[in-house]
Amino acid sequence: MTDFSSVRNKVAIVTGASDGLGKAIALCFADNGMKVVVSDINAEKGNKVVDEIRKAGGEATFFRTDVSQEEDVKGLVKFAVDTYGRLDGIVNNAGISAESRPTHEYSLSEFDQLTSINLKGVFLGMKFGIEAILRSKVSGGFVINVASLAGLLGNSSMAIYTSAKHGVVGLTKSAALDYAPYNITVNAICPGTIKTSIWGNAPEEVIQQYAKLLSPNGRLGDPKEVAHLALFLASDLARYLSGSAITVDAGSSAGKLTPTQWAHPEILE
Ligand SMILES: NC(=O)c1ccc[n+]([C@@H]2O[C@H](COP(=O)([O-])OP(=O)(O)OC[C@H]3O[C@@H](n4cnc5c(N)ncnc54)[C@H](O)[C@@H]3O)[C@@H](O)[C@H]2O)c1
Repeated sequence: MTDFSSVRNKVAIVTGASDGLGKAIALCFADNGMKVVVSDINAEKGNKVVDEIRKAGGEATFFRTDVSQEEDVKGLVKFAVDTYGRLDGIVNNAGISAESRPTHEYSLSEFDQLTSINLKGVFLGMKFGIEAILRSKVSGGFVINVASLAGLLGNSSMAIYTSAKHGVVGLTKSAALDYAPYNITVNAICPGTIKTSIWGNAPEEVIQQYAKLLSPNGRLGDPKEVAHLALFLASDLARYLSGSAITVDAGSSAGKLTPTQWAHPEILE
């Protein structure tokens, strides 16, 4: 039987953990015996995540952070080390979406706002997080950056989001090489279309249309389906896996989806 118990007692920071993918990752980590620093700009919801973890018998604390602010991220990492004595890993997940628009219609302030959270925020998490992991001298350190399929492929009407996510994949691959000799793995998770509040106020039918259009299996992903990959990457089972940008997208980035006529559809009956 494969044993995931190597994650037990590892100390991890998860940014953007008040909701969506970050929340699912924090819950999954804590459920498996990790000590989690839940971090988010939204303190009210973040404290509720901590309550949920503690009620289930897990270990977590909240620290409010705006990942675009250097002093906040520095403070977050210090808090984690002061609270738990060390840091094993960081999940740089906090991110925002941008309105869909052709490239020339974005303003510079929109570009600055998005990249300061989605790219600079990841860099800051890596900068201070990796320093703390190195100082902690842990045996299996990890960095998990939540990028996107937009980190691997171009997207019409999403130039600034796509450029930031490509940057996250670049940071991931380069840092993987920097820290491989020190037994710290650095990977990116590239989710496809996952059901979280990043979809904002989009009506359910629009979301479902997107799911049919973008996902070969016709449904949105569940945040837990991303969290399970994060758990594997945090475990010692994944020590030989680094510098990868791993898709969780039901195969949508694998190639072009074309309609196929089955010769024997009765096999499904
Ligand atoms: N849901 C998807 O379909 C999808 C697909 C690809 C990539 N992603 C990426 O996954 C990550 C998580 O997205 P999600 O879908 O869970 O979104 P979400 O909106 O449900 O959650 C994002 C969390 O980040 C927090 N946050 C926003 N700005 C912040 C800041 N400046 N500092 C700290 N926290 C901040 C929010 O408060 C929220 O709790 C993002 O990086 C996103 O780009 C999501």
